[in-house]
Amino acid sequence: MFETTAASDKPDYALLSRQVSSILEGERNLSTNAAQFSALVYHSISDLNWAGFYLCTPAKNPTAEFPQDLLVGPFQGKVACARIPFKRGVCGTSAAQRQTILVEDVHAFPGHIACDSASNSEIVIPVIKEGVLFGVFDIDSPRLRRFSAEDQQGLEAMVAAFVEATDFS
Ligand code: SME
Repeated sequence: MFETTAASDKPDYALLSRQVSSILEGERNLSTNAAQFSALVYHSISDLNWAGFYLCTPAKNPTAEFPQDLLVGPFQGKVACARIPFKRGVCGTSAAQRQTILVEDVHAFPGHIACDSASNSEIVIPVIKEGVLFGVFDIDSPRLRRFSAEDQQGLEAMVAAFVEATDFS
């Protein structure tokens, strides 16, 4: 059984990235690896109330620019909104821009989608493999300004290790 260390305010992201690779080694299935990855993040970093994936799926109302929506995937935390169109909320913005979005105060982010009223700050990282966007990884915290530039860098490295270890088709 894999034992994670206690949730930390300043996690050792280099160690966590190595743990991602070792935990996911030998299994390349998307839902398996996404579930394991969400659990590792949620239990290794302090002050989180949600951590999980929104994955690309054909849109309910497709446009030429955005033929896909985001659909909730494996996660840890309370029940969340199931479907998010591109450009909506923090997740849809990250997906549309293909960039990490770090939000110090979600109440100041226009269009933020409040799935859990406990959330006060948030970071969303796009999941991209070989130039193709497969979804986003979303993390919420009840603490304002929970995520620093250092957290962003460390979490992006963890997502990169997840992408490397996982098949998306
Ligand atoms: N707050 C997100 C929605 C997803 S939940 O936080 C799990 C957003 O604005 O996209």
